[in-house]
Amino acid sequence: MASDAKPSLLAVEQAVRHFHIRASGSAGAGLLRAVDGVSLSLNRGQTLGIVGESGCGKSTLARLVVGLLPLTTGRILVNGGDLWEAGAAGQERRRQCQMVFQNPAGSMNPRRTVGASVAEPLQARGVRNTDDAVAQMLERVGLPAQFASRMPHQLSGGQQQRASIARSLIAQPALVVHDEAIASLDISLQAQILNLLVELQEDMGTAYLFISHDLAAVQAISHRVIVMYLGEIVESANTRDFAERPQHPYSIALRAATLTPDPVLERQRGEIALRGDVPSPMNPPSGCRFRTRCPMAQPICAEHKPLLREVGPEHHVACHFVGPTSTQGALPC
Ligand SMILES: Nc1ncnc2c1ncn2[C@@H]1O[C@H](COP(=O)(O)OP(=O)(O)O)[C@@H](O)[C@H]1O
Ligand code: SF4
Ligand SMILES: [Mg+2]
Repeated sequence: MASDAKPSLLAVEQAVRHFHIRASGSAGAGLLRAVDGVSLSLNRGQTLGIVGESGCGKSTLARLVVGLLPLTTGRILVNGGDLWEAGAAGQERRRQCQMVFQNPAGSMNPRRTVGASVAEPLQARGVRNTDDAVAQMLERVGLPAQFASRMPHQLSGGQQQRASIARSLIAQPALVVHDEAIASLDISLQAQILNLLVELQEDMGTAYLFISHDLAAVQAISHRVIVMYLGEIVESANTRDFAERPQHPYSIALRAATLTPDPVLERQRGEIALRGDVPSPMNPPSGCRFRTRCPMAQPICAEHKPLLREVGPEHHVACHFVGPTSTQGALPC
């Protein structure tokens, strides 16, 4: 039966992005599975946080979502239409998705004024006189309008990141992807930028895909949280459920790594500390990709890949030992 429901603003369906790696030195050639079957959706005006260690495929996913990188397989839909549709419709969908990068200096052209960089997305839409809009947008992100005539190097890191945010929002996109957007700032500036993003979202109704290795920052700003490990989603939940009770062993370990020292929690941390490095996405472990670092791993974990299963309302976990329908019993801990 056809549904009357509006499509999600963003729907990522089984997104795969592999890279062919050439042999170099002692390293052999092969296929690097950066994003390996990721599905997610995001509604208008909401924030979806994506967290995971370095190398888990977060930035690759970000670049896929804003159309900076083509998919190997899968689909990305914006308002129900394909991001890569040929012609004006696809171009308009890609314009609806803007991005803020980790390095604010890198997203501003060093040879152009701040105002010229901020104006670019409007000019791409054919707007000629952008001065007033740039001045207003700079003020909305907490910068004096006169900063439009400055060069990027004359701004501090925090001011540059505010200007990058102004640039991302000036053409009123439906979605902004923030890839480690606060990682280069000190803690107090990080909090200011998170507050600013929340205020701007309330004002403008923009949806955010907020990508970070920092679980606390992701939880502070997101309505929902997705945890990625080696190119795959291992847990997805609304932020309150996730903050109260993460269920995948990797999520529990990530949270333990961010907890403040406390004798009881320290003991927990000892049981589920993250040991070793993320394995190579060119040769991921069989079965569950987390098994080489999981303190609860059992033989089945090497043989069968755990599927993402519902463990509660809108809460999904990919572990053989988590969930009401688990056939393997409770987590062996
Ligand atoms: N253009 C590329 N060519 C080859 N490998 C890449 C490319 N971009 C990313 N990778 C690899 O894909 C994996 C995921 O990288 P990335 O998406 O940057 O992860 P994250 O942002 O979570 O740190 C890494 O192993 C990285 O080296
Ligand atoms: S499936 Fe096995 S290895 Fe993977 S997270 Fe669950 S217990 Fe750990
Ligand atoms: Mg990254």
